[in-house]
Amino acid sequence: MSYNSFGHILRVSTFGESHGPAIGCLIDGCPPGLEITAEEIRDEVLRRATGKSRHTSQRREKEDVQILSGVFEDRTTGTPVALLIENTDARSKDYENIKRQFRPGHADYTYWKKYGFRDYRGGGRSSARETAVRVAAGAIARKWLRQTLAVDIQGWLAQLGPIRTDTVKNWECVDDNPFFCPDPGVVPELESYMDALRKSGDSVGARVNVVARNVPAGLGAPIYGKLDAELASAMMSINAAKGVEVGAGFDCVAQKGTEHRDEMTPDGFLSNHAGGILGGISSGQDIIVSTAFKPTSSLRIPCRGLDIDGNEVEIVTKGRHDPCVGIRATPIVEAMMALVLMDHVLLHRAQTGNEK
Ligand SMILES: Cc1cc2nc3c(=O)[nH]c(=O)nc-3n(C[C@H](O)[C@H](O)[C@H](O)COP(=O)(O)O)c2cc1C
Repeated sequence: MSYNSFGHILRVSTFGESHGPAIGCLIDGCPPGLEITAEEIRDEVLRRATGKSRHTSQRREKEDVQILSGVFEDRTTGTPVALLIENTDARSKDYENIKRQFRPGHADYTYWKKYGFRDYRGGGRSSARETAVRVAAGAIARKWLRQTLAVDIQGWLAQLGPIRTDTVKNWECVDDNPFFCPDPGVVPELESYMDALRKSGDSVGARVNVVARNVPAGLGAPIYGKLDAELASAMMSINAAKGVEVGAGFDCVAQKGTEHRDEMTPDGFLSNHAGGILGGISSGQDIIVSTAFKPTSSLRIPCRGLDIDGNEVEIVTKGRHDPCVGIRATPIVEAMMALVLMDHVLLHRAQTGNEK
């Protein structure tokens, strides 16, 4: 039980560190017959890649996805699907100065306390490099959901620092800018905000929303497998995630019952404050999840910290870092949504015998 795996029937295990030779995953439980190629998976992985704009880390990985097993003649065979991505652009020397130091806000201190030993290069296992293989696994889940149930999953940047972009103005625009911003009019503001932030050496938080449409009613397993709990756990497992909301989320605190309840008519629900989940079970409405990401902790602005001997030291982080981790998080939250939903479709079928 070292928690490098998640999911029930569709079980994904990941391995690898930021500066190791490769990262990878094993996807067990994928049904046979899904047409999939390494190129399709790579296209998804490239959506979260670094180095595509000046607003992210300038590490440039090739992201060549190798399918090692479970796919024959471009179709899943029903046996474990193993995916591997080599790390091709790690610069471990950038991390020499924090080898014996703990970056405040990063996982260095807690990894040291837990294991007594850590791979300090690029954050080792705590690096979000691992999320590349979640996106790879998610590419399979997304395709399976789309083909089997016409489920469509789409994420977007909902807020970056003080700039709110939660209202989707144009879905087409989301993949056409480096931020996954759904409002083309706000992109220049995001660009200049990030340019100033980068120059200052500081970082900022962000919020990413994701919606899943055409999800059949009935997914989710009360009591301990509530769909909202499973989704929250999946989103919180992403590096730097600090909060998850489903539907109205924390806004429900200020709502009256008469406002929050989603009235039902023969034509459907009149609102969706529940975010598509009632009693831990999908209602057939859109499932809407929002995830808050904290500001990047690796900063070149000096701060007070400790080394492994307990001495007070000044911490300055070198290397290539994302000034706002939320900018690249959209494909990751989409992948986690897809993996949880596919797992729950398979669970639902196994328990009830229903196709949907
Ligand atoms: C897409 C993405 C990119 C990230 N990039 C960086 C980075 O460049 N530098 C950094 O210090 N942390 C980065 N992080 C955050 C760290 O991985 C994370 O803060 C660290 O593992 C500690 O875990 P915690 O924040 O969940 O407590 C990134 C996170 C995500 C989701």
